[in-house]
Amino acid sequence: MAKFISVAQLKGGAGKSTVVTNLVAALSQEFHTGLIDADMPQGTSARWAAIRQTQQSNTPAFEVLTASSVNELALAAERLESECDVVVIDLPPRSLKYLREVLPYSDLVVMPLTASAADVWATEQLMEAIREGKRTSKRLKARLVWNRLRTSKATEQFLADTAGLLRAKELESRLGQRTAYVEALGRGLSVLEWSDAKASAEFAIFYQELKQQLKLD
Ligand SMILES: Nc1ncnc2c1ncn2[C@@H]1O[C@H](COP(=O)(O)OP(=O)(O)OP(=O)(O)O)[C@@H](O)[C@H]1O
Ligand SMILES: [Mg+2]
Repeated sequence: MAKFISVAQLKGGAGKSTVVTNLVAALSQEFHTGLIDADMPQGTSARWAAIRQTQQSNTPAFEVLTASSVNELALAAERLESECDVVVIDLPPRSLKYLREVLPYSDLVVMPLTASAADVWATEQLMEAIREGKRTSKRLKARLVWNRLRTSKATEQFLADTAGLLRAKELESRLGQRTAYVEALGRGLSVLEWSDAKASAEFAIFYQELKQQLKLD
């Protein structure tokens, strides 16, 4: 029985596919991993996977399915549940319908957000849906992860002001604003395989924290 990680954010461009692709690359080194790209036809993760899987040096392989409707998403999850140890789902922005479909079987929902009021407002709505989902699923955990962070006093202040407002748990690890994420994605790679030591180190910490949350080892 696979564990399911759903990566969700109602706001577009917060970093869902970036988190998904880097996670899948890391997980597939250790576990039989599945990827469901439910953000079609954009298909960022599926396209990344297609590039990656043509590169022999980037084995081991992982399972990839795409879903263009809530029904297809349910079928894809059902199929990968018995085949994989862990499945990562890239959800589309602006869709509570898809989120509600995955909440009953998700072990962890990871919600990337940037330090902007727009992302925070979108996360308030997302958290309402999560709280609803928790009423029927005992195993559901949800964690925010700050993405595209720049180090500055203003950012630190923004995070401190926001923490209480969202009534959501945050991962301790944070992802910075780094070109490595953009460059690695376009080449079918993860930042762990890229030449930016800071990006690689921060993602390794994020990955370890995530595995602990999921009790994956
Ligand atoms: N930490 C980061 N540093 C620099 N660029 C980033 C970072 N995270 C994401 N990006 C870039 O921001 C853009 C949006 O990221 P991404 O595609 O992961 O977001 P998304 O939430 O999946 O978007 P959508 O809602 O459109 O699916 C991409 O060009 C990506 O490379
Ligand atoms: Mg995306």
